[in-house]
Amino acid sequence: MAQTAPFATGIALAAAASPASDAGPDRRDAAIAAFREVRRETERRAAPLSAEDQVIQSMADASPTKWHRAHTTWFFEQFLLVPNVDGYRPFDQRFAFLFNSYYVAAGPRHARPKRGLITRPSAAEVAAYRAHVDAAVERLIADAAPASLADVLKVVEIGLNHEQQHQELILTDILHAFAENPDSPVYDAAWRLPGVGARDTRGFAPIPEGIRTVGHQDKSFCFDNEEPAHRTLVGPVGIARGLVTNGDWLAFMADRGYERPELWLSDGWATVAAEGWRAPGYWRQGDQADGDDGGWSVMTLAGLVPVDPALPACHLSYYEADAFARWAGKHLPSEAEWEVAARGNELDAAFGVVWQWTRSAYAPYPGYRPVEGALGEYNGKFMVNQMVLRGSSCATPRGHARASYRNFFPPPARWQFTGLRLADFPA
Ligand SMILES: [Fe+2]
Repeated sequence: MAQTAPFATGIALAAAASPASDAGPDRRDAAIAAFREVRRETERRAAPLSAEDQVIQSMADASPTKWHRAHTTWFFEQFLLVPNVDGYRPFDQRFAFLFNSYYVAAGPRHARPKRGLITRPSAAEVAAYRAHVDAAVERLIADAAPASLADVLKVVEIGLNHEQQHQELILTDILHAFAENPDSPVYDAAWRLPGVGARDTRGFAPIPEGIRTVGHQDKSFCFDNEEPAHRTLVGPVGIARGLVTNGDWLAFMADRGYERPELWLSDGWATVAAEGWRAPGYWRQGDQADGDDGGWSVMTLAGLVPVDPALPACHLSYYEADAFARWAGKHLPSEAEWEVAARGNELDAAFGVVWQWTRSAYAPYPGYRPVEGALGEYNGKFMVNQMVLRGSSCATPRGHARASYRNFFPPPARWQFTGLRLADFPA
């Protein structure tokens, strides 16, 4: 089972090297290789999808695959090529409006809920856009003056980590679209949610009371919302070594968990009523392709499959995670508690299975400062009305997440690969 170490590196190009002492060809070659690998992974994830698949937008929060491919390309064009390449001419002047996501400082942009209406440029034109920008970025990395290489690689690094976030969204967004299709299309017949690990996943890892340091603590890449590292009081608390499973969730449902208002936050109960929730996202009852047995099935990237009680519960909102914890007589861990336990290698499936909701509101760390310029809009302006998730998911590109990584979504969201582990306070 995935543990902390394999996911602790990130795409790191700019850290801890002075431009004067380390601007040689090896560093440039390594950066170009990393750039190519990440850009290829986006195309690998898009490859099973037809041009029709790539244009669909099934809800305002999800974006078309073609848009993800173009937006990640615009990011390099806008934030790397335009400021650093003399006389750079954008591939197409119209694309900045179409493929800017939310950067107000970068100019006006198309309405997010209408991204699915952009039938043109075609998928083939977006492929040409990507090739054009790829070539320009590689030229810039190869030819940048030694004195500016560190600054160039810093933006390349952000751009690659940004693209990896969109690689995850390519999968979560197409799953949402496919789940709207009565034929339950298959993205990858071999896809499986990773199961529980070989380690003992029972019980709770004790975190004694103490002042601990959380946040990003080395010179590798991180997003600005992971800094500054700071001391905080944690514990005493126990953190579940394992994730909550579908079997656990079926017990919650059998105990009428979705019908008991006393288990729910007020906003959560209102959402249950408004959305008609009675099971996790993508669960369906009695319509399995291979026979109607009245059981539960779930829409996955491999199509519709029976719910496996042994697998981690997934596609849960914060409201559901919170209600389940209350039903179980437990809590959700805070993000600091989660991080301390993960750094202590106490958690099974901390990374690579499902993001785990915490009870922490997404807020700036003490002393937080967004980066300067338009990229300062990346994280800081979203620090309200969202909850923090920790770890990473099966859709997260390998090497992207780390112990200090902070994901965030609004409490009702459940189209991501989101689950939970519990926390228990001493009696
Ligand atoms: Fe983006």
